[in-house]
Amino acid sequence: MSRWFVTGGNGFIGTNLVRLLAGASGTAEPLAREIVIYDSTPAPAGRHAVALGADGAPEITHVTGDILDPAALTQAMEGADYVVHLAASSSVNRSVEDPFFDLQNNVIGTLNALQAARTAGVKKLVFASSSAPLANAAPPIHEQMAPDLGNPYAAGKLAGEAYCQAFSSCYGLQTTVLRFSNVFGPYSERSSGVIPTFIRKLLAGQPIEIYGDGSATRDFIHVSDICAVIAKAATDTRPSRGTVFHVATRTETSILKIATLLVEAMRARGFETPELLFRPERVGDVPRSFSENSKARQFFNWEPRNTLEKDVGDLVDWFIALNTPKG
Ligand SMILES: NC(=O)c1ccc[n+]([C@@H]2O[C@H](COP(=O)([O-])OP(=O)(O)OC[C@H]3O[C@@H](n4cnc5c(N)ncnc54)[C@H](O)[C@@H]3O)[C@@H](O)[C@H]2O)c1
Repeated sequence: MSRWFVTGGNGFIGTNLVRLLAGASGTAEPLAREIVIYDSTPAPAGRHAVALGADGAPEITHVTGDILDPAALTQAMEGADYVVHLAASSSVNRSVEDPFFDLQNNVIGTLNALQAARTAGVKKLVFASSSAPLANAAPPIHEQMAPDLGNPYAAGKLAGEAYCQAFSSCYGLQTTVLRFSNVFGPYSERSSGVIPTFIRKLLAGQPIEIYGDGSATRDFIHVSDICAVIAKAATDTRPSRGTVFHVATRTETSILKIATLLVEAMRARGFETPELLFRPERVGDVPRSFSENSKARQFFNWEPRNTLEKDVGDLVDWFIALNTPKG
């Protein structure tokens, strides 16, 4: 039981991770004694609530701070055992529009997190990378492949990975890099991912917009599978010098299939859904994407649940509940 420090802990993956560490996900005992959430955006009220006062519930501290403020970050990280660095600009589009913003947040921000972790003498820093650095390579992509980048977001993630390895080599800081595929699940109402975007449209009675003919594929992984690997990677005691793992399902699902599953789930719940709207393909859209996961499966003794059809229905229920006024 230890002190965890989660940058970006109020975001989509961060919220799910904090709930897992706090034992609030309903599946396990708390993994943490204390959790510090460091995020520039406050969480919606009650978001991280756990059974406060229950035996063993960890203390959760919220620090509203910027990873671009190294002094505040270093101070807040003091005494941490494990750092999970999730804070980033997660929008590929924004990186294309403003590559300097992406560089600041995702590269300088990561460098600041590594430097603060080095100062704090933490046991491990886990870096949230992405499959993006290999997005242009022929799938299934894996750890042995050379990067093939399509946008500044991918460049920023790759730079972050490189700094993780450099800090391990130079300063002995233990770092692990996790390259997530497309993550979906609860607490994603602010996310720009394809699944939450489609659900928001359907709940508003608007048509889902598909760019191209819908045959483009992605590897959708449930956020609980991601968080399980983050927790294992942080606490793993084997030496890790920026070691890279693809965290994915190795399953290819088309955008059209996802749209169809969501429309069916909404109709089954009594919602009327407009016809799908097909738009011209966008420049830079990746036609196919899925990742190998055997390295992560073997190393962490982990399996993704891979139950997209059921999970999509549960997620629709979660969004409906969120949009239903209480009382
Ligand atoms: N969601 C996915 O499908 C996916 C896939 C691959 C990689 N990732 C990576 O995983 C991480 C978490 O993703 P997410 O989906 O939870 O994103 P998110 O946008 O929901 O959460 C990111 C959080 O970081 C915070 N943040 C951003 N800039 C900050 C700054 N300068 N200082 C402090 N806090 C800051 C935001 O306020 C937000 O709460 C990101 O690094 C993202 O690039 C996500």
